[in-house]
Amino acid sequence: KITPVVLCGGSGTRLWPRSRKAMPKPFLPLVGEQTMFEGTLSRCADPDQFATPVIVTGSAHMEHVEAQSAGSGAAVIVEPEAKNTAAAIALAAHRLDPDAVMLVCPSDHHIADVPAFRAAAAAAAKLAAQDWLVAFGIVPTAPETGYGYLLQGEPLDGGRRIERFVEKPDLERAQQFLADGNYSWNGGIFAFRAGFFLAELARHRPALAEAVAAAVAGGREDGARFHPDPAPFAAIEGESVDYAVMEETDRSAMVPAAMGWSDIGSWAALRDATDADGDGNSVRGRAELVDCSGVFVDSDGPRVSVIGLTDVAIVVDGDEVLVTTMDGAQKVGKLGGAANQ
Ligand code: GDD
Ligand code: MG
Repeated sequence: KITPVVLCGGSGTRLWPRSRKAMPKPFLPLVGEQTMFEGTLSRCADPDQFATPVIVTGSAHMEHVEAQSAGSGAAVIVEPEAKNTAAAIALAAHRLDPDAVMLVCPSDHHIADVPAFRAAAAAAAKLAAQDWLVAFGIVPTAPETGYGYLLQGEPLDGGRRIERFVEKPDLERAQQFLADGNYSWNGGIFAFRAGFFLAELARHRPALAEAVAAAVAGGREDGARFHPDPAPFAAIEGESVDYAVMEETDRSAMVPAAMGWSDIGSWAALRDATDADGDGNSVRGRAELVDCSGVFVDSDGPRVSVIGLTDVAIVVDGDEVLVTTMDGAQKVGKLGGAANQ
């Protein structure tokens, strides 16, 4: 069985004012009734395919994590501080049998087609058991610079070898990759055999691997929670798994995953993931739209009335109101309100 490893770290300032430090993006019901964290757990809740999940998070998120994972039986690893994804995944790998196949899942993605996700997970697990480090490939639709790009190589059983993994290219390269046609986006979901991941980490980032091993060796159990030793963990130079392992290894593979994936990175992405009316408008809360198209409104109170706008997001949250074009939605994190929440 596959062990889901759910990562809960970052905050998502681009979804301000809804996403705030005290209530970040994974824990909000942004698409439908479930939060993205709950959705991540329920996608992996089929006991025929998946084992009990492991959640890796910081103490700041513990309250939300425990409230929203109640009943899942999850084991929780509480990071002394955030050191990015390579360290977070390594902590989980140490807590598993070396032959366990782990499915690393970000907790802030929306996936519309759950059966397609489970089929991709099964294909990825098969390759992972043969010591491939497996990424989920998404068909790219824009030259996004916030994603990793995978160049597809020779076919493997159920997937392909990755010939090149490029994390967060600049715009020029992203445009080249998109035009090339043989690149996928990295969906941020990975399947690894725990022991093989640790071996590859030790090969490419020995200091990081040793520090995590020491933090686990000195760690402390507390019921379903595990607290790594903060001292060795503090010495880690945080790096994402994409740079630390996936760009470095020569054992990377991908499975194609057409599953309605979105990382809900902005209000524009949220509009695209939510049910729109015939004009492409999407409304949560009270609103009246006249002669609008592609307009997203999310109000937790006041009624919002809009006339004659196209491709605009309006978000009302308590005493904060955000109005932005969809093109501007990438810059929300730069607003003073988002920075000083
Ligand atoms: N526990 C824990 N600790 N989780 C973390 C930490 C940490 O220190 N840092 C990040 N995470 C979690 C985030 O909460 C998120 O769920 C996931 O790990 C990925 O981190 P992001 O910070 O969101 O990464 P990214 O979006 O810049 O890039 C990754 O995802 C893209 C797809 O959304 C990369 O894998 C890209 O290659 C990929 O395209
Ligand atoms: Mg992300």
